[in-house]
Amino acid sequence: MSSRCAVVRGIGEMREARERARRAGRTVSFVPTMGALHEGHLSLVDVARRHADEVVLSIYVNPAQFGAGEDLDEYPRDLERDLELAAARGVDVVFTPSDAEIYPEPQTTWVEPPEEMARRLCGLSRPTHFRGVLTVVLKLFEIVQPDVAVFGRKDYQQAVLIRRMARELQLPVRIETAPIVRESDGVAMSSRNEYLTAEDRPAARALSGALMVVRAAFRAGERSGRVLGEKARSVMQEAGVRVEYAEIVDADDLSPALEAGPSGICVIAGHVGSTRLIDNAPLAGSCSLDDSEE
Ligand code: PAJ
Repeated sequence: MSSRCAVVRGIGEMREARERARRAGRTVSFVPTMGALHEGHLSLVDVARRHADEVVLSIYVNPAQFGAGEDLDEYPRDLERDLELAAARGVDVVFTPSDAEIYPEPQTTWVEPPEEMARRLCGLSRPTHFRGVLTVVLKLFEIVQPDVAVFGRKDYQQAVLIRRMARELQLPVRIETAPIVRESDGVAMSSRNEYLTAEDRPAARALSGALMVVRAAFRAGERSGRVLGEKARSVMQEAGVRVEYAEIVDADDLSPALEAGPSGICVIAGHVGSTRLIDNAPLAGSCSLDDSEE
């Protein structure tokens, strides 16, 4: 009964599918993912649909963006379920290549992100993460050749770096971003939320709680980036989160904002039990946190 989407595993086959769309005069939008799909991913499919005639979604757990000792082996994988969810949401093609297809030989050529943007925030604890992301995203762009690619603002630093790569390498693709989708308790949806236990949940909620506190303080007139960052840190710490960072940065270039203005965003990361969580919110304007405020 359920609709189906084409499942493509080979690079050659994906390029042929792209060529067919081009000959038919159809535009293509692209949603790269690592699978274990949830509503956050599927919301990107909705955005992608609005921008092009066909939607390609990739599912590929990219080893190059995991550091030693990270969760590459445990990362959740459920292709059958993902294919059903993708088809039900109207994805036309799911591209799910193997490691041998994407990395046929050891990778020695990398897309190196700008140091000052990539060696901060998530890059501090994951120094090779973003070059792994940019390299695989460039490969995927080259294979899928989309007109538009859609990324979630959940991974804010990633979205900024991908936008910059596309601009500086003059890639013929338009980058769109989409808002964070949250669980009803405010926790930003993530494939890694599957690792959270019931006891972890209150601490996990403290990330979005911290962002709400920071937004309220900004609305009340607090403008010191340091004070706002400290507020986020203490909300998380009190709930038992091991804070990795809590900062106010410029939304465009991620530079630290000493004096917080309306273009600032609060970016946070921390460990709850064995799970690493990230979240962010703009200081001003509406955001998905407004829907989950009680
Ligand atoms: P993954 O973590 O699977 O995320 C795929 C896309 O979904 C990213 O653009 C991410 O920002 C978005 N996303 C995840 N959770 C979201 C949420 N709660 N709300 C909105 N968007 C959300 O990010 C990656 O994979 C990889 O690094 C990838 C870009 C695929 C390269 O390997």
